Amino acid sequence: MGTFAVQIAKSFGAEVTGVCSTRNLDMVRSLGADHVIDYTKEDFTKGEQRYDLIFDLVGNHSFSERRRILNPNGICVMAGIGGAGWHDGILSRLAGELNAYMRSRFVSQKFISYIAQFNKKDMMVLADLMQSGKMTPVIDRTYKLSEVPAALRYLEQGHARGKVVVTLD
Ligand SMILES: NC(=O)c1ccc[n+]([C@@H]2O[C@H](COP(=O)([O-])OP(=O)(O)OC[C@H]3O[C@@H](n4cnc5c(N)ncnc54)[C@H](OP(=O)(O)O)[C@@H]3O)[C@@H](O)[C@H]2O)c1
Repeated sequence: MGTFAVQIAKSFGAEVTGVCSTRNLDMVRSLGADHVIDYTKEDFTKGEQRYDLIFDLVGNHSFSERRRILNPNGICVMAGIGGAGWHDGILSRLAGELNAYMRSRFVSQKFISYIAQFNKKDMMVLADLMQSGKMTPVIDRTYKLSEVPAALRYLEQGHARGKVVVTLD
């Protein structure tokens, strides 16, 4: 999700900061991110920078921490529902999101949950971005159909670098 999010945000002209681990800094920069923060060395919620939008795919920071770095009318889109957090307990993650959503009703910033809905209009926008070369899928590993269990085990570890592809002969 992150590798696409950076490229889509750039295509809309946003100034983008990507949060990732050390081994992915160069990759996220190469996707167009203007700034990168290594989460193994720095907590992005502790800095001085303020943001108009946080696209949160991990959900490992509290409402207050995320609110602190949002501009007064900023929005936190909570889109991480599993992946890196699968093994952390999806229910506690959802409870955290609900908590943030409820608390955000009393402040100027918005915290909203997001679930992708596939539709032709959005797919056409993404297809255009790919055809124009503004967005390229990052492919980490490729598995055969018979190797799907291994592919899923790899995904569940939460550290895939981009997409994991299953090929059909
Ligand atoms: N809302 C929706 O409609 C929707 C749709 C699809 C997916 N999702 C959710 O979006 C999230 C991402 O999906 P995905 O398919 O991209 O998952 P993924 O493949 O599991 O994401 C892996 C990436 O997350 C990075 N990561 C792990 N911990 C991190 C941290 N603390 N800070 C920053 N990056 C971290 C990993 O980098 P390192 O190895 O460097 O840690 C790796 O590059 C998941 O929670 C998934 O459930 C939501």
